[in-house]
Order: sequence, then C-alpha cells, then structure tokens
Amino acid sequence: MDVDYDGLIPNNVGLNQDLAVKKALESWHPGYLDWWNDMGPEGFQDALVYLRTAVSVDPKGWAKFGYVKMPDYKWGVLLAPAVEGRTIPFGKHKGEPAWQEVPGEYRAMLRRLLVIQGDTEPASVEQQRHLGNTAPSQYDLRNLFQVNVEEGRHLWAMVYLLHKHFGRDGREEAEALLERRSGDADNPRILGAFNEETPDWLAFYMFTYFTDRDGKFQLNALAESGFDPLARTTKFMLTEEAHHMFVGESGVSRTIQRTCQVMKETGLEDPAELRKLGVIDLPTIQRYLNFHYSVTIDLFGADQSSNAAIFYSSGLKGRYEETKRGDDHLLKGDGYKILEVKDGMLVEKEVPMLNALNEVLRDDFIKDSAGGIGRWNKVIEKAGLAFRLTLPHKAFNRHIGTFAGVRVSPEGRVLSETEWQLNINHWLATEEDRAYVASLMGRVVETGKYANWIAPPAIGINKQPVDFEYIRFN
Ligand SMILES: [Fe+2]
Ligand SMILES: [Fe+2]
Repeated sequence: MDVDYDGLIPNNVGLNQDLAVKKALESWHPGYLDWWNDMGPEGFQDALVYLRTAVSVDPKGWAKFGYVKMPDYKWGVLLAPAVEGRTIPFGKHKGEPAWQEVPGEYRAMLRRLLVIQGDTEPASVEQQRHLGNTAPSQYDLRNLFQVNVEEGRHLWAMVYLLHKHFGRDGREEAEALLERRSGDADNPRILGAFNEETPDWLAFYMFTYFTDRDGKFQLNALAESGFDPLARTTKFMLTEEAHHMFVGESGVSRTIQRTCQVMKETGLEDPAELRKLGVIDLPTIQRYLNFHYSVTIDLFGADQSSNAAIFYSSGLKGRYEETKRGDDHLLKGDGYKILEVKDGMLVEKEVPMLNALNEVLRDDFIKDSAGGIGRWNKVIEKAGLAFRLTLPHKAFNRHIGTFAGVRVSPEGRVLSETEWQLNINHWLATEEDRAYVASLMGRVVETGKYANWIAPPAIGINKQPVDFEYIRFN
C-alpha cells in the first residue's frame, strides 16, 4: 500500500500499469494547476508552508510534514486498502461481492454522486481564497492552507474515479469541475452552501466546523458504498477531513476563550463595550453559528426523497456507520419520524425510512454537531460566565425540504412573517455584525504573534510550539 512518488501523480493505485488513465490524468493536470493558481489561496503561492503530505494510507503515520510551496504540493490518488472479500453491506444487493467496476444500470447515478461530492471540494477552496490576507497568525494561515491543499486532493480523488471508471463522460465531468466557480452567476457550484461567501475567519471556522462535518457524513455514507473504489477513496478522505473539523472547532473555541478572557478581566458583558475592546461578543458568535448550521443542514437535501431511497436500495450510498447498525439493512418496512408543520405547529409524522434517509443522515450530523457546542460552552463556563451557545432548531432558517418558506424561531416555534422580520437581526449575523468582524481582520504574519481577537492554541501543529515558523514568506 506504499505510495508511488516517482511519477507526476503520487498514487497507490498502480497508475504506471494503467496507461490510459495515467495519460488522461496527466492531461487534466495542467488545467488543475491553472485552476489552483487562479482560484487557490491569493497571494501566497510562493510562500513555503509547513504542510503535511500523505505518504501512505496506513492509519498510523500516513503523513509527513515539511515546507512546501503550495503549487508544488504532491496531490495524489490514495485509496484505503482493499478489504479482502468485502460484500455490499445494504440494499437489494446486500451480501453480493462489492463491485470493482461500475454496474451499467447504476452508471448515471454513481457519476452524479461523484460529481456532487467532487464539486464541493474546489468550491470551498474558492470560497476561502481571500482569507490568507487577513489571517490572525501564521499558525492559522498554515491551517487554512492545509485545508485548501487537501480539498484540492479530494478533487483529485473524485476525478480519478471519473477518469478510471466513466470513460469519455467521466473526462467531461472532470473538466466541468474545473470550470464551475463558487458564487458565479452563470456557472455556479452545484450546492447552495458552496456558493456562499466565506468572508472572514469566524465564518471560516464555522464553515470548517459545520460544513466540513457535512463532508464527514457524506463521505461516511459513501464509504459504505457497494462500489468498492468509491468506498476506499472516501475512507481515506475521512482521515484528512478530521483535521478540517479540528481547525473549525479549535478556531471557534479560541475566539470564545479570548472574548471570555476580556469579559472576565473587565467585568463587561455589553457587546458594544466588548467591541470597543476588539473581541467578538458571544451573541455575534451565536448568530454566525445559527447561519452556518442552518445553511449546512440544508445540504442533506429534502427530508423525504425518493432519490435517497434509490441510492440506498441500489447499494450506492449507505447510512452513517451502516455496518455497525443492527437492523436488516434493507429497511423495507421500517418507519422514521420527520417533522411537518400542521396548524401552525411542528408535529412528528412517521414516514417510510427509505424515503427519509436524508433526514436520518441529517439527524446523525446534528447529534455529532452538538458535541462541539458542549465543549465551547465549557470554555464559557470555566470563565464563570452565564452565557451559553445553543444549536438552533433544525427547522430554523431552512431553504430545502418541508421547512422551505416556513418561518421557525431558533427554539422551534412557528412564526408569522412579521415576527420573523422583527427578530431576524437577533438570530442571524447582520451586515453590522459582519462589518464589525471584518474590521478585526488584520493581517498578523509575524512568527509567534496572534491577533487580539483570538487566543493562541494550546499546542502547535505536529507538536511544534505555537510560535513555530509555520510559513516562510518569499
Ligand atoms: Fe473535502
Ligand atoms: Fe474538508
């Protein structure tokens, strides 16, 4: 399972013996580099960045750290080791040997799944491309770039599958992945949250906490796929995803820590007063949280979806931790409770589970998201402050599914349009909030220095000190 670093494209898939695919990827490569140079991190392409690069797929020690210029990063094709005798774990093909080739009848659906996943990867790089200019420290800058190069690698992961298994239309889709642009009016990225801006670092941390976590759940569902190359690819992608969510959770945590420190030192609680001291008040953090959380849970799709049922029954996309579940993995007679609005109230309604699999995955995501909120609240509690962050109700600020167009408060109360408009500024980050946060975004690039609005981390990357030289500017 060692990675071959000899050619242009590091890989553990025997690309040297697979000349047609090798040629196709090599001809896609220059377009990828053009995309990276145009749409990747702005202004830092010549800097030497202390990055980790995957050198094996062994769960222990798959990465090596060193200074790399981002355009020279070794983006490669890495699949988790094959599981001997693996069978399809769910759906109507359950128990059959996992597919090594695309079954003809599922070709279009599988291609669609790969394209949707693949599209999110470059999208987030595009959304984050200006952030380097306002980084709060070298440490954070390095983390941003680590996330960016790995999202680039995730694009490679999907493009490899498209080239290897989908022939000409796969190659066309791979080209189109380099052509769409986040937020573009004519040719946007496929999913809504990936066309939003990531204008400041608090937004970046919220994005990596919530939206990369959507990635975690989608990848986990695909890691169960009966199409074995997809399962193995996404399994390895998950090892990288963990760091992205760490960047988000620790970034928000350090922001809270710094605010609480100033609140304790000064005894001030009024956001306006705290803003004069250059920290982000906790209600603003809550409003950012509400926005990113609600936009992200929309990514799971409609609460009832016949497509989700087909993906599952066909063995293409499973549930989170499918193989750890004790049911029959067919789900034919099973039900699941979803919410609907009835007479101005949110009420539960039981529907066939197969149709509710988007909701099942969303609910798993929600449980997982709550963990970090608890840890953030510990930071506030430790400072002796009464404020607590909360996850808004899942019907709050939704644009997809049953709740699209329904106004629901963060506590889960159905509202009139008037009530919604009266309160929206308390619930979602306002122009003013964003302008204030933007005003804090200076550029701190001296080794070991941190912006005033965020606490330094407890420990550096790869056990380096927090004042390590993470970036060498050229
Ligand atoms: Fe990714
Ligand atoms: Fe990610």
